[in-house]
Amino acid sequence: MKFTEMRPEWFYSYVTIANLESIQQEMRVINSKKNPTNFNTYNPYYTNIFKHEIDEKDYPHTKSWLLSVGLYHKFYRILLTQASVTAPAVHVDTYDPMHCNCSLNIPLDYCDNTYTAFYKTDKPELVQPCFPDPGEKQARNFAWLNAEHAVEVAKVETIRPILVNTSVLHRALSDEPRRSICSFRFFPELNLENVKRLGIEKPFEQVD
Ligand SMILES: [Fe+2]
Repeated sequence: MKFTEMRPEWFYSYVTIANLESIQQEMRVINSKKNPTNFNTYNPYYTNIFKHEIDEKDYPHTKSWLLSVGLYHKFYRILLTQASVTAPAVHVDTYDPMHCNCSLNIPLDYCDNTYTAFYKTDKPELVQPCFPDPGEKQARNFAWLNAEHAVEVAKVETIRPILVNTSVLHRALSDEPRRSICSFRFFPELNLENVKRLGIEKPFEQVD
């Protein structure tokens, strides 16, 4: 199975969030309350919490920010990640570019000197693709690539909110087991207008 990159020359864009610290604090509390009924992906280091599972009283600042950028209606889940190496192999979050091709990642704790790195390959054959069940809560399109076939082409330290292109090969680089980040996922996928309202001056263009 191969994969399709959306916007292959764009890897990430910085996002400035005025009330970032309030959002981070709300996400830390939600992270501390996660439980086994929240949908886990491959292992306990990753927890998806769906919008309907969150009590609105638990994230007023986050909700007001999402409303202010016109994305509350598209926001549908938070992926909480806590691990030393969040994704040890190079992967795409989606081999189907219609789903899950962007992620808004916010660092929470112990993120200094940790990175998100991006890769290219001339052998785009994926391994272990995850085919979603028809009744599954999340449209999963996750798949790995053999890392020895990948070359790093960009890297960003995980110290600011970034919108990440999850349809290009990437992985986290970290040896800090306490590192935690949260990722906001949207459906339908973000479009040009959405990204502009996030304050990104050059949507889907690699700047830094
Ligand atoms: Fe990923």
